[in-house]
Amino acid sequence: MPSTVTAGPLPSFAPAAAVARIAAASRRTQQPQSGGDLVSLAMGEPDFDTPAQVTEAAHASLRRGRTHYSPLLGEPALREALADKLAGIAGAPVSAADVLITQGGTAGLAASILSLVDPGDRVVIPDPTYSLYADLVSMAGGVVVPVPLAPDLHWDLDRLGDALAGAKLFVFCNPGNPTGIVHSRAELEALAELLDGTPTLVISDEAYADLDFTGRPFTSTISLDGLRDRTVYCQTFSKSYAMTGWRVGYLWGPPPLIQAAARIHNTFNGSVNTVVQDAALVAVRTCDADIARMRAEYERRGELMRAELAKIPGLTLSTPEGAFYQFPRYDLDLPSVDVVAALRTHGVAVRPGSEFGARGEGHLRLSYAADAESVTEGVRRLGHGLSALR
Ligand SMILES: Cc1ncc(COP(=O)(O)O)c(C=O)c1O
Repeated sequence: MPSTVTAGPLPSFAPAAAVARIAAASRRTQQPQSGGDLVSLAMGEPDFDTPAQVTEAAHASLRRGRTHYSPLLGEPALREALADKLAGIAGAPVSAADVLITQGGTAGLAASILSLVDPGDRVVIPDPTYSLYADLVSMAGGVVVPVPLAPDLHWDLDRLGDALAGAKLFVFCNPGNPTGIVHSRAELEALAELLDGTPTLVISDEAYADLDFTGRPFTSTISLDGLRDRTVYCQTFSKSYAMTGWRVGYLWGPPPLIQAAARIHNTFNGSVNTVVQDAALVAVRTCDADIARMRAEYERRGELMRAELAKIPGLTLSTPEGAFYQFPRYDLDLPSVDVVAALRTHGVAVRPGSEFGARGEGHLRLSYAADAESVTEGVRRLGHGLSALR
């Protein structure tokens, strides 16, 4: 029998509107595959190994047969340990019931934004900032309201106040990616004042909280009485513990917000990898000295990078305060994507400032999570590349 082909509509590969919305809004650039003699200062990726006791805990967990589903909100022991840690940060009681373990910071941000933002809701973000926020808001159908930072890359409180009027949500990171800025207690108090008496919520992404080099104690958003009750705190093990590949993070906040985020997180992710949570528990309990060791090394590399960058004419350096980024402004009349492409031909990879918002244009983001040798050599190549572009 000859096979019969029915004439009819062909399968449609048109993606859902959410995909098109993300594609239209997204500034994220995919770094090309590294090839040849390339020094990368592009990645926000610690070059340290995960502390050995954490890796060993994962091995031990597997050997104990911990290969089954975890509870949907996360392992109780890990949530308890995090609640203790958070109580110290917040200076207020924290219940483990309000801690949600997530698939890295990315899924925590996704769960919190998707559980709060309805189509048409205005969501304020700093410009420039971490590019994922705008993508997630666009996915939800929200309206991204970027607020230009002040010239010193801190908040411009007048503009922020104007933008926040009628906003559903303000999302920011502290310390900042890509700026390396740390928002002080005074700035956070000013934010609390701007929001006082409004229904606007806050997502505080503190992925780099352990990397504050200002010399003053880091102020978490959740330590402020005026902000705690309207804030979802988003944290990850990726940066502090050098655990980027493990994919584990957590949220804490007012119970209805965490329950809503859990609904989205469970729908997308199911439960988080059991072995990874066992290892994360060991990280929380035992890694203070490891965090301090890596932090000291980042601080050294940051100073090295700044000293090397200062030798390059035409670069205006920001004052690095935290995270592991420098965000210098260059004086060439060229878009940052073109500068980045040209720099690759000189053997150094960095990220274009425009990836983080329209106001990031004219800047480059350099990461000093790379080792000291790469920092020195990468900045040397950057200097050559920029002078060739002149
Ligand atoms: C500010 C900020 N938040 C969250 C993340 C996400 O981290 P992860 O998904 O690895 O936990 C990153 C990663 O670069 C980041 O820079």
